[in-house]
Amino acid sequence: MGIQDEPIDLDDAYSLVTPEDNRALYARWAETYDEGFLATHGYIYHEGVAQLFARYGSAGGPVLDVGCGTGAVGVSLAANGLGEEIHGIDISAEMLKVASTKTQSNGDPVYQKLIEADLTKTIDLESNFYSGGVISVGTFTHGHLGPECLGELLRVGAPGSTAAIGINSAHYISHGFAEYFDSKHKADLISKVEIVELPIYDAATATLEDKSELDSIAYVAIFINRTH
Ligand SMILES: C[S@@+](CC[C@H](N)C(=O)[O-])C[C@H]1O[C@@H](n2cnc3c(N)ncnc32)[C@H](O)[C@@H]1O
Repeated sequence: MGIQDEPIDLDDAYSLVTPEDNRALYARWAETYDEGFLATHGYIYHEGVAQLFARYGSAGGPVLDVGCGTGAVGVSLAANGLGEEIHGIDISAEMLKVASTKTQSNGDPVYQKLIEADLTKTIDLESNFYSGGVISVGTFTHGHLGPECLGELLRVGAPGSTAAIGINSAHYISHGFAEYFDSKHKADLISKVEIVELPIYDAATATLEDKSELDSIAYVAIFINRTH
């Protein structure tokens, strides 16, 4: 078995460095991600953040799923009554292709729009467009995105809309997310900031005993976007 044929898992994802590394890994992972990663490890993170987002309330209108991957978050949003208009954005064309196959219970596609873009750069989306808010799960983690990528998300979210950003808790600590949210709060660009701790894996099915406790927990930053 060559390196290219070995099963892909979290260690591969956590050791990525550049957006190009991400593009290459997820191109190979897209086909097996749902069955080989989400199902095997009892991934429940997407459901937890979608429920939290629904509970805080969406003002209605389009919701942006950031780093949507194969669409687990979109499916959970739809299951929580927020399936009216979901757009997904991701760097991987192959992951987006899988997301495009996901359907709601009425047979409609989960995502009305799928956008291929690198979130470390300025994204080609209109400012203040997402009145339904912005959600992200599993994309702010080791080897992926840091707090510097949040500015673009604040720009495209409408003022008054909810944002729920799930961040791997070890990554949150090592990359200064607390300081980032604190500075935005002080500048009155975000309000009602809460950090909610959620499990990433279901304890009953999780097979990641070797992962540190912090890598099994997400800190979800949930707040109102006040950026104009
Ligand atoms: C661990 S997956 C999470 C996918 C999905 N949200 C979930 O919870 O299953 C991380 C996603 O982030 C995307 N990603 C990584 N770096 C990116 C970047 N620079 N720009 C856009 N998307 C990126 C990957 O392509 C991948 O689909």
